[in-house]
Amino acid sequence: MKIITTKAELQELTLSLKQQKTIGFVPTMGYLHEGHRALLKEARKENDILILSVFVNPLQFGPNEDLESYPRDIEQDKLTAKNEGVDYLFMPSTEEMYPSTPSVTVHVQKRADVLCGRTRPGHFDGVATVLTKLFHLVQPDNVYFGKKDAQQVAVVDGLIKDFHFPITLHAVQTVREEDGLAKSSRNVKLSPEERQEAGILYQTLSMAREELIKGNHDIRAITDSLRKRLETITSGKVDYLEILTYPELQEPIHWEGTLIIAVAVRFTNARLIDNIIFDLH
Ligand code: PAJ
Repeated sequence: MKIITTKAELQELTLSLKQQKTIGFVPTMGYLHEGHRALLKEARKENDILILSVFVNPLQFGPNEDLESYPRDIEQDKLTAKNEGVDYLFMPSTEEMYPSTPSVTVHVQKRADVLCGRTRPGHFDGVATVLTKLFHLVQPDNVYFGKKDAQQVAVVDGLIKDFHFPITLHAVQTVREEDGLAKSSRNVKLSPEERQEAGILYQTLSMAREELIKGNHDIRAITDSLRKRLETITSGKVDYLEILTYPELQEPIHWEGTLIIAVAVRFTNARLIDNIIFDLH
């Protein structure tokens, strides 16, 4: 595995590789866990060359968010990358990616006014901007994203289509702990008590799904009662609990097709998100 820290080196490499090889790309912010590894495994199987990026992107963090305290362990990440068969690990500095205040950024028009887009203003603009830069540098044929961040998958799908990137997007199933908690780099920031409580997020999503499958279409009643349940059983504060169509992220009108139930809960030092996507017949 080769480590690359500069744009120039990466661009020179990918331009020459691109002639004969397929390139699979997994963008991350590091502190790699089994969720990230699932993306790497799928990408490894489907491409000649596997490129991983580890970059904590300041542009996607709000002023009161956890940019400074975002967990980092670059030595462990290098080991994980090696074990998963990564060919090139791109880990640029912030100055390398943003040498000065950007003169152009990407603005997400659709689907950014719900879920994390509403509670984290500017977040998806930051994600779309850094991914545009990374896609240009890496020149991937295939990119791999986790369904845990389902709104991100929908936004990236729009970015790839609207900006004509010749890239195929692959969405990988969420990897969970035994109690259902979605694996996340931020889970280490939970206190032991909060960690115990956090399994309730997935249980709550599953309960909402059961209600909808049973034919209960009173979304307001379902989300109100489950929000209360979450705030009673856990010490967290619910940022949102929403039921929308997927991938459009609009309020459901017809009771068939693909729906997403998505939740965000704020604990003392970590905000956790999760979702379930399923089909109603
Ligand atoms: P990060 O949170 O590090 O996640 C990198 C990728 O891993 C994302 O596609 C995310 O959905 C996926 N992932 C995280 N936890 C997962 C889990 N439990 N199961 C499956 N996949 C999981 O998402 C980002 O970084 C950033 O926004 C990024 C796309 C890198 C842009 O900065």
